[in-house]
Amino acid sequence: MPHDHAHDHGTDHHRHHGPIEGRHSHRYNRIARLLGPLQYRRIAADIAASAPRNAAVLDIGTGPGILLRVLAKRRPDLRLTGVDLAQDMIDHATRNLAHLTPAPDLRAADVAALPFDDGAFDLVVSTYSSHHWSDPAAGATEIARVLRPDGRFLDYDFPRAPFEALTALTESSRTPFRSPWLLLMKTTRFEAAKR
Ligand SMILES: C[S@@+](CC[C@H](N)C(=O)[O-])C[C@H]1O[C@@H](n2cnc3c(N)ncnc32)[C@H](O)[C@@H]1O
Repeated sequence: MPHDHAHDHGTDHHRHHGPIEGRHSHRYNRIARLLGPLQYRRIAADIAASAPRNAAVLDIGTGPGILLRVLAKRRPDLRLTGVDLAQDMIDHATRNLAHLTPAPDLRAADVAALPFDDGAFDLVVSTYSSHHWSDPAAGATEIARVLRPDGRFLDYDFPRAPFEALTALTESSRTPFRSPWLLLMKTTRFEAAKR
């Protein structure tokens, strides 16, 4: 599960930019498989409420893909795509989602250079990843590009995530997100619509 490194390292956020790889990805995958189904139930319900029927949904920084797994169970109609900067995470996600038909499209990619056409997605989501992005403003530009007009971006992350930089989209709002399973992880729900 995501870990709020600010508690370990004061305010030095820059040390945590970049991918989660190697043994760290193995450890993350083990914990996410154990806790994720409960942890992401409420977030998946919130996303499901925003997703039109048969929507194309992109999860950025999908890690081991547990959010997509919970979402697929709740909404089998959705067409799911996940990207992560770390190929190791994509390998875990591929294994964790192997039972799904059709298989989600899972690829190693940086939020700042998404390998998708303009307007390809109805909804872009992300959980506990945006505080890792080295260039969140470039990420916001890419998210806006791959969203269809009026498409939405939902980001659930620690309150210190770089939400200001994500306002390249429009009409954004920020609210605390509460769930019995998220008590240990103070989470902000950030929502923005494409201009
Ligand atoms: C704390 S994990 C969250 C994983 C997953 N969303 C979850 O909730 O379990 C953050 C993930 O963001 C990925 N990441 C970091 N920088 C990224 C970037 N620039 N573009 C895409 N993914 C990135 C990391 O490799 C890592 O898998």
